Amino acid sequence: MDISAPKFFGRRKGRTIRKAKSFLLEHFLPQVQIDGAAELDKKHLFDTDFDEIHLEIGFGDGAHLAGISALKKNVGFIGVEVFQNGVAHLLSLMTGVKDAAHMDENISLLVDRADNVRIFDDDVRLLFQKIPDGFFDKIYLLFPDPWPKKRHADRRFINPDNLKALARILKSGGILQIATDHPIYKRHVLRTMHANNDFVWTAKTSNDWRYPPQDWVETKYQKKAVKEGRTPVFFEYRRL
Ligand SMILES: C[S@@+](CC[C@H](N)C(=O)[O-])C[C@H]1O[C@@H](n2cnc3c(N)ncnc32)[C@H](O)[C@@H]1O
Repeated sequence: MDISAPKFFGRRKGRTIRKAKSFLLEHFLPQVQIDGAAELDKKHLFDTDFDEIHLEIGFGDGAHLAGISALKKNVGFIGVEVFQNGVAHLLSLMTGVKDAAHMDENISLLVDRADNVRIFDDDVRLLFQKIPDGFFDKIYLLFPDPWPKKRHADRRFINPDNLKALARILKSGGILQIATDHPIYKRHVLRTMHANNDFVWTAKTSNDWRYPPQDWVETKYQKKAVKEGRTPVFFEYRRL
């Protein structure tokens, strides 16, 4: 075991994984997977010279990543998620393979999809050291686990160590997009980001954080929050 591996507190696997999903993890994931062993290099990752590279941390079931990468075909995306069932769900959205009837060894992307998504299926903190300075134009952290109890506060993803890493891998002028529906996490983001000197909040009016930016694709947790009566907020910070 790598003793330098950071401790992860969420779930890595669900109780069950359907046949088509494990088929996708075995046969399609290797085609789009980042193994985390080598330093990231745009030319090796993608066949296309994309205008921008974006990172989504903790993409969950992949609804946002699948949607935004379909909308922005001129952008290369790196999605990171620990939860294997979520990774498999994203692969299903990318390939259209939903059940055993669609399982085919020559599995490929849906015809109208650009080949612009690469996946790291482990803890993003393990990838940080392999990412060159200023690699990303934009980073999404959408509805991160809020860890609302005080005794779990040090598990929250927005913390000084992770912000230091995000500031390094985001280019100057790049955007850090954070969304949350949890009142404690809203306050936590405001307080932690206010104390940080690498980012500036782009909000111009007090209403800005109530609305998602243009071209927004809803996430699973966002839909769940709205259905259950909670109000999401959207923070946009610019790297100085
Ligand atoms: C509350 S869910 C939100 C999922 C998705 N963004 C959404 O809005 O539907 C948070 C996700 O972040 C993932 N996650 C938490 N910490 C992570 C880390 N260090 N590296 C990669 N994924 C992480 C979890 O596995 C979980 O799927």
